[in-house]
Amino acid sequence: MTQNAYSHAAIAGSGSFLPSRVVTNDDLAAELATRGIETSDQWIVERTGIRQRHLAERGVRTSELATEAARRALDDAGMAADELDLIIVATSTPDYVFPSTACLVQANLGNQGAAAFDVQAVCSGFVYALSTAEAYIRAGRARCALVIGAEVFSRILDWNDRSTCVLFGDGAGAVVLKACDTPGVLASALHADGSLMKILCAAGNVAYGEVTGDPFLRMDGQAVFKQAVTVLERSARKVCAEAGVSVQDIDWLVPHQANVRILNFLARKLDVSLDKVVLALDKHANTSAASVPLAFDMARRDGRIQAGQLVLLQGVGGGFTWGSVLVRV
Ligand code: ACO
Repeated sequence: MTQNAYSHAAIAGSGSFLPSRVVTNDDLAAELATRGIETSDQWIVERTGIRQRHLAERGVRTSELATEAARRALDDAGMAADELDLIIVATSTPDYVFPSTACLVQANLGNQGAAAFDVQAVCSGFVYALSTAEAYIRAGRARCALVIGAEVFSRILDWNDRSTCVLFGDGAGAVVLKACDTPGVLASALHADGSLMKILCAAGNVAYGEVTGDPFLRMDGQAVFKQAVTVLERSARKVCAEAGVSVQDIDWLVPHQANVRILNFLARKLDVSLDKVVLALDKHANTSAASVPLAFDMARRDGRIQAGQLVLLQGVGGGFTWGSVLVRV
């Protein structure tokens, strides 16, 4: 990587990709009913706001979704893959133990020589990756970074556990972050509390040629709910104070898309109008590390997020992890 003279980083383009198979709540309820598991569109919508999710076909991998989202982001930025000198993929569902999904994406894009690695911060992963890429650029260690959140969460769900399997979907989102001389990323803050690992985890691993432990996602939903609302509010206030702006100055809040009730609480606590909160979970469900870039790209492409606006991106998830990145787009 080369030293550069720029002291800021800005988003130059975004892209996203969803598997074509859409599964509505009714579809899912009918499928679960064949195995004696009861749920309904009404329960899922009332408790979560989710109406449908995209699920990858068996065999489709995270790197494939990530590569498609990356191509769209590069296209949007008007850039070629060989201009990248840093590739970070946030995922908890990598293709392999190793190599990293970022290396697979790099090969798919035909880039040679960029640094490439994965970030594992579950649903906060994209925000962690974006903040990391920005730090590389500001330190002069990279000029052009591809930051991706991509997941096939459907692979780590216990499809016999109705309290978790209705909540998630698959997908990928990406941004291109470029060195520039005016600030794009204004402030960021990342945090974790590992003592809370048990409220949201998939505590299995590969050892001695087999999976040991429990390979499925387990969650204490109510504990996650309370933590999420508390830390997202605190983190939003922190980055706004750091950037010298008021929470009310934010044009768009793009939080992790876990549950509409969390987002309602958050908007109320921050005294931000719900009209300023980008909601994508009704269409995508919770796509973990992909959820923030998917929602961001959707709102950019449908014309809600406009150049020059102030956007707060927020992640929260397993670890327990959380973080915010405030950007002028
Ligand atoms: N369909 C029908 N009934 C269900 C379902 C379902 N899919 N899932 C659970 N139930 C039942 C339970 O069995 C229980 O029945 P009972 O009263 O007869 O025992 C009842 O509904 C209530 O269950 P709770 O778990 O108490 O439901 P709760 O109101 O807490 O809602 C939820 C669960 C939606 C997960 C909630 O806790 C929540 O929003 N948590 C936030 C965490 C979250 O969204 N996590 C997503 C991933 S984490 C992340 O991304 C940060």
